[in-house]
Amino acid sequence: MAANYPTMKRSPLSELGRRTEPPPISWLIQLALSRPRLISLAAGFTDNESLPVEDVRGLLNGILRSRRTGQPALQYGSTQGDPVLRRLTARHIRRLDAGPASSRVYSADRLIITNGSQQLLYMVAEALCDTGDIVLVEDPTYFVYLGILQSRGLRARTVRLEKDGLDLARLEHLLVRLKRTGELRRVKLLYLVSYFQNPTAVTTRFEKKSGALEVLGKFERAAGHPIYLLEDAGYRELRFKGEDVKSSLAVKGRAERVIYTGTYSKPFATGTRVAFGLLPEPVFTAVLRIKGNHDFGTSNLLQQLLAQALATGRYDRHLVELRERYARKARIMSKALREQFPAEVEWLEPRGGMYFWARLPRRLESGPKSKLFREALANNVLYVPGELCYADDSTRVKPNREMRISFGNAVEKDIRTGVARLGAALHKLLDL
Ligand SMILES: Cc1ncc(COP(=O)(O)O)c(C=O)c1O
Repeated sequence: MAANYPTMKRSPLSELGRRTEPPPISWLIQLALSRPRLISLAAGFTDNESLPVEDVRGLLNGILRSRRTGQPALQYGSTQGDPVLRRLTARHIRRLDAGPASSRVYSADRLIITNGSQQLLYMVAEALCDTGDIVLVEDPTYFVYLGILQSRGLRARTVRLEKDGLDLARLEHLLVRLKRTGELRRVKLLYLVSYFQNPTAVTTRFEKKSGALEVLGKFERAAGHPIYLLEDAGYRELRFKGEDVKSSLAVKGRAERVIYTGTYSKPFATGTRVAFGLLPEPVFTAVLRIKGNHDFGTSNLLQQLLAQALATGRYDRHLVELRERYARKARIMSKALREQFPAEVEWLEPRGGMYFWARLPRRLESGPKSKLFREALANNVLYVPGELCYADDSTRVKPNREMRISFGNAVEKDIRTGVARLGAALHKLLDL
């Protein structure tokens, strides 16, 4: 029987516990689950049918085939991560960046394996930022990252995003303004989702990464401390058109200001949530200690699985197949959008990743309380309202006429049907 406790005046929760708002991702998932007939073009889930079940079974069988190989995998590992996986991952990123084999920047010693890159994003905020500090973000940005900032009491200041990455002139203006108001010492980092950005599909040009590092560098003296570039390369390998762009680690002489995060969730077995980061000192040591307190190490079994996937070439083979699959789904969505959406809606054709970002004509809004969102739900289709991807920033009005539409998880038939349902909702409201 429940005890009859008296009502208390004060909340038992910490400041963070009280401040943390419900993450939008939770209600989006809840909405999708509560309506079985709904087609969700909102989920950031990956393609189900291509998840590598047979590869993973084969690799796990290999790891567990004997006690000698199986026992270490079923034991705790180190906080920093499995040495083989770290070496293979560091080499993989160095090769993508065409870095010299002798480069310290891509050393496995600077690499930490994490439970999803989400954990690294969180730990970097913990390691660098105090309540009230400022994080510079692209406008729009990855909405789950905004949740970290909100929860930790950090302030986001936004920088306009162009078709090829951040507007560097705006970045500089913003820093000048923050210097003038005496807030520069609160600026700790700039967060970029640099490849096939979630939500816009924009990829940042290499020159813009080096430009951003240069701009940040100019303000460090006045800030009194380093200002880091946190490059989230989560979608880097989901490229189906064009060439890879080098990461900011490859900008000459600037790697000490770059925190690079990547993940195996998107390009391989999503549910394993094995990810990694390359970090400079003193961030590296601080994050490693923080991870020691979080979980003192990512699942050893899953790390060994990833190490085997890389070592045996199964990872690379899977990626070829996956890229073809996403390319095909993107083509299907693009065709459906051209056929079903009103001519006034604009979008960028993605060259990788999982998202279309559609901008509606001025007279239509897309927010969670908008007529469009309600009409879409009535038609049994869900999108991510663009508004969620814009940080609270009192220096500009939050845009509210975009939608993030994903081709990641929906099957081909549902992509066509979902876009048709959204198109019908758009036509109806535009014709009113
Ligand atoms: C831009 C971005 N960064 C990070 C993550 C987190 O990925 P994970 O924690 O699975 O590595 C996601 C997931 O959707 C993402 O879209």
